[in-house]
Amino acid sequence: MHIPVMKNEVIEYLSPKANENFIDCTFGQGGHTKAILEKNGPNGKVLAIEADPELYKKFQNQESSFINNQLLERLVLVNDSYSNLREIVKENNFGPIHGILMDLGMSSWHLKESGKGFTFQKDEPLDMRYNPEANSLTACEIINSFSEDELCAVLKEYGEERFAREIAKKIIEKRKDKPIRTTLDLVEVIWLAMPRWYKSGKIHPATKTFQALRIKVNEEIQGLKQGLIKAVDVLEKHGRIVVISFHSLEDREIKQFFKRGAQINILEVLTKKPIIASEEEVKNNPRARSAKLRAVKKIV
Ligand SMILES: C[S@@+](CC[C@H](N)C(=O)[O-])C[C@H]1O[C@@H](n2cnc3c(N)ncnc32)[C@H](O)[C@@H]1O
Repeated sequence: MHIPVMKNEVIEYLSPKANENFIDCTFGQGGHTKAILEKNGPNGKVLAIEADPELYKKFQNQESSFINNQLLERLVLVNDSYSNLREIVKENNFGPIHGILMDLGMSSWHLKESGKGFTFQKDEPLDMRYNPEANSLTACEIINSFSEDELCAVLKEYGEERFAREIAKKIIEKRKDKPIRTTLDLVEVIWLAMPRWYKSGKIHPATKTFQALRIKVNEEIQGLKQGLIKAVDVLEKHGRIVVISFHSLEDREIKQFFKRGAQINILEVLTKKPIIASEEEVKNNPRARSAKLRAVKKIV
């Protein structure tokens, strides 16, 4: 059973009422969508968006039968990117919209089942695209074709990796022998590039490189910026936006966007500091450890 991150906090800040309509920008395995549908009946709807066609099809094939038929009738699921939010709302003639949720990044399915190279704990081809039709650049192409400076910039910008230069150098050196095609090929190179003292640290040496590649492949920061602008645009007055992020790069974008919205009197920030998961939740779901939730209300 899939456990959505910070479910109670999402419901508290979205505050769904009977017959209101919501958008879940990141459907994943549908955990948050289900929680909203349980609150906005009998006539409220959820428009859910999922970028990954495989996850979308998985749900269409009723593998996610945890949402019962009564709730399903009020769900519209589309396979697209939330960066196209305005267009998706228009195409589906969806509204008025009382709340919008974004639960960023990949889902546990991507790590455990997708086989697309999101995890350094299994040997898989280095792909990392949520939607192969929308993105042509794979992680493998980045690793095997970017210059040292380009690789270094990706690792620094999207992974905040302090050993970006060392890793980039080692990638260039090793790919001369043979292409780096799989997750474990890459882990081996990262391992060789890292100083010995760092390897016994708390986080796996490959963590930041994998995060950086995923963000670059899926253009996640650009998508987030577009998604936030469009979310404010389509929302009703007094509607809410709730965003859960998993690393500081995203959290900074969200914080600044909300702050700017408040300065020009469009948004009211509901979370002065980011809300984090309870100790209890982190114990049951370690992924919640790095989650930060921020929320705003549209006031115009
Ligand atoms: C953290 S998971 C969401 C989990 C979900 N809240 C649940 O309860 O199952 C994020 C999901 O968003 C999807 N995603 C990532 N970027 C997206 C985008 N730009 N547009 C739509 N979906 C996206 C990913 O494929 C992933 O399934």
